Amino acid sequence: MRRYSRITGTGSYLPPRRLTNADLVAELAAKGIETSDDWIVERTGIRARHFADAGVFSSDLGLEAAKNALQAAGCSAQDIDLLIVATSTPDMVFPSTACILQNKLGANGCPAFDVQAVCSGFVYALSIADAMIQAGAARRALVVGAEVFSRILDFTDRTTCVLFGDGAGAVVLEASDTPGILASDLHADGKHVDILCVPGHVSGGSVLGDPLLKMDGQAVFKLAVGVLEDAARAALEKAGKTPADVDWLIPHQANIRIMQSTAKRLKMSMDKVVVTVDQHGNTSAASIPLALDSAVRSGKVKPGETLLLEGVGGGFTWGAVLLNL
Ligand code: UT7
Repeated sequence: MRRYSRITGTGSYLPPRRLTNADLVAELAAKGIETSDDWIVERTGIRARHFADAGVFSSDLGLEAAKNALQAAGCSAQDIDLLIVATSTPDMVFPSTACILQNKLGANGCPAFDVQAVCSGFVYALSIADAMIQAGAARRALVVGAEVFSRILDFTDRTTCVLFGDGAGAVVLEASDTPGILASDLHADGKHVDILCVPGHVSGGSVLGDPLLKMDGQAVFKLAVGVLEDAARAALEKAGKTPADVDWLIPHQANIRIMQSTAKRLKMSMDKVVVTVDQHGNTSAASIPLALDSAVRSGKVKPGETLLLEGVGGGFTWGAVLLNL
């Protein structure tokens, strides 16, 4: 009998410090940076974001999200036999945030590693966990997206610092006789490295280059809209489905206008799109599991429904995962 994987629990966590646009606009104005609530809302749909306090790391946010997901799945950390963390803001250069989180969870012993695919990280990690479960290499995986993007923002660059937030989301993915994950479709094109990057690196005890986020927003926007449609259609085709079969589209939460364009191209109503960018901002690899968990917990998304998750981000990377909840 074919082996599938299925999400059995979701969880998420936002650090308590919440900044509305008005809060951020005031903080930036004090530094001589001019922006406005109107501009941020109109161009992005973002109204608020959460920032972690100093000393709080991706593994700390991931820990709370993981605990919530484990509780929802009715299992404990010791039941996990695979731990994958998607993050671009790791606690350290090494070891992986997954190993640090594993120790905090007390899930020691199982394989644990990070996936670095920026804002596509969660769909990459989910797809890898699904493949490992299908191959018999794991039975119960914890897949986490966790980020502290506030640490890599340049608060003198208004074109980027208003866009991002911190947070974490997680799912428990278990072996199952029925799907579960129906199909996934992952891609990368490294020729676009420069349009979204944090170019600094550690060398000889110093940070060389600029360790803050750089983005050509318009170039990213244009690419994102095209590849998100392609990935969605490819994942649907692999499963013999069409956009009409999808109950909920859960896209990476970067910009409401990208989500609207994607929905339009797929001929899906915005009523079928889960939107949390207004309250979370762009939390990179955490955005999809955060949106998923908030939709599950609010009762919007229900067991048995068909979900299309899709991410896009630095690399350039993109991908989609189609699943039955
Ligand atoms: O997570 C990975 C994926 N990332 C994304 O998907 C981000 C994709 N890109 C975007 O979402 C959009 O390109 C942005 C939201 C980043 C920018 O929106 P835009 O409509 O492309 O604006 P723009 O860059 O064309 O800038 C328009 C104007 C410029 O002024 P001028 O040159 O027209 O006078 C900017 O200087 O808006 C100005 N501007 C701002 N004004 C007030 C840029 N940032 C701000 C700001 N406040 N924060």
